[in-house]
Amino acid sequence: MAKTKSKYVCQNCGYETAGYLGKCPECGAWASFVEEVTSFSEKSVNADLPDNNPPMKLSQIEMNSEIRVTTGISEFDRVLGGGIVQGSLVLIAGDPGIGKSTILLQTAGSLCNNNKKVLYISAEESASQIKLRAERLGVKSDNLYIYPQTNFELIKKHIESMQPDLVVVDSIQAIYTSVIQSSAGSVSQIRECCNALMGIAKTNNISVIVIGHVTKEGNIAGPKVLEHMVDTVIQFEGDKYKTYRILRSIKNRFGNTSEVGIFEMSGKGLKEVVNPSELFIKEYNQTQTPGSTIIVTSEGTRPLLVEIQALVGTTPYPAPRRIANGVDVGRVLQILAVLEKRIGLNLSKQDVYVNVIGGIDVNEPAADLGIALAIITCVRDVVFDSHTAIVGEIGLSGEIRAVNHIDKRINEAQKLGFKRIIIPEANEIQEKFDGIEIIKVRRIIEAITRAVSK
Ligand code: TYD
Ligand code: MG
Repeated sequence: MAKTKSKYVCQNCGYETAGYLGKCPECGAWASFVEEVTSFSEKSVNADLPDNNPPMKLSQIEMNSEIRVTTGISEFDRVLGGGIVQGSLVLIAGDPGIGKSTILLQTAGSLCNNNKKVLYISAEESASQIKLRAERLGVKSDNLYIYPQTNFELIKKHIESMQPDLVVVDSIQAIYTSVIQSSAGSVSQIRECCNALMGIAKTNNISVIVIGHVTKEGNIAGPKVLEHMVDTVIQFEGDKYKTYRILRSIKNRFGNTSEVGIFEMSGKGLKEVVNPSELFIKEYNQTQTPGSTIIVTSEGTRPLLVEIQALVGTTPYPAPRRIANGVDVGRVLQILAVLEKRIGLNLSKQDVYVNVIGGIDVNEPAADLGIALAIITCVRDVVFDSHTAIVGEIGLSGEIRAVNHIDKRINEAQKLGFKRIIIPEANEIQEKFDGIEIIKVRRIIEAITRAVSK
């Protein structure tokens, strides 16, 4: 006879307790506990697990290089580290409506054209909805199987009998296993299903891609546990109101992290953007106003030119506002503090808005100098030279600190037609550059003189 056991699980972080708690001691969330009942049979659940991997000596282990299957979508391959590793479990997370189902259906279609068998488990949409999307994307292959199902046991049965090359689970929050009695989408359900999928992937050597939704705060919904379990976590970002989308790898057991792939959403699905810098600074030259600069940021190993805008105005409030879009507001506050202390720019009666154009997030300190110069040019009401790009981190004493990948950044600026680039003095350049003037600066005041006097 099956036994049952009940526990309370925090839906935010997965913390478990025997009784109800109002506040989670682990993550501090309030009223996040939900009772979950597990039933298990008398015989041990693990008894029938195949045991084909006994412990062995390091010297006994044969190294077989991982087999990668290219998806045929090169921006996606780049994020994965060169293709999907056979037998790996990949999580793609993103806001609703960002295009997760779209990219995976496209990937499935592309793999099927390469004679791979793909099983697409649609737990959220009906088969005809998928068909409609497939028509729009021009996906029509007989190697693609669509299976609208939410029950994990049935899904497992079909994966094992079909033995496809790739399984797509859309989405992990919508499937449930009968082993656990809590509703689909709860932490225990997600954890159990993900664990079981991992087992299927590893024992049958089938690659599995699962879709996961993110919460309003931008975390992968419910459990952090999900992130720990899978081999690769890819975040799908973008501005819902703009057409481009960014795939970013945040964990990868088989490749580089923080690699990005850039796409544009069109009427016929997601299209790869081969030259993203062009896209992000497309409108720069036409709309030149004080308070706008171009920085060269580095996403993974890839340099990207991005426009930063700042707006400074008298505040009607006792406490001035600092609003940052696409950059960390803490970073902006630090830059403002340095500007006040080191060059005497007092903005305590002014609102400051900083915006990164294009819906991309710039999280590296190398953007500091660009942000500072955008603020300064706005305050002084001068237009920044449109042929100059900027990189550099600002230290607390007003010094400009070195950044990584400097050669790649200079290269990218030159490729996009920039005539000058302001970089930190401390950076050593390996390559020789012709046709772009490299201005090295040591302190913030120097950067201002060089930039504004042009
Ligand atoms: P979808 O893949 O359903 O998002 P998710 O699975 O992440 O929730 O895509 C959602 C949006 O993309 C939807 O608003 C419609 C739009 N879209 C296009 O603009 N072009 C297309 O070819 C497709 C398929 C979708
Ligand atoms: Mg979807």
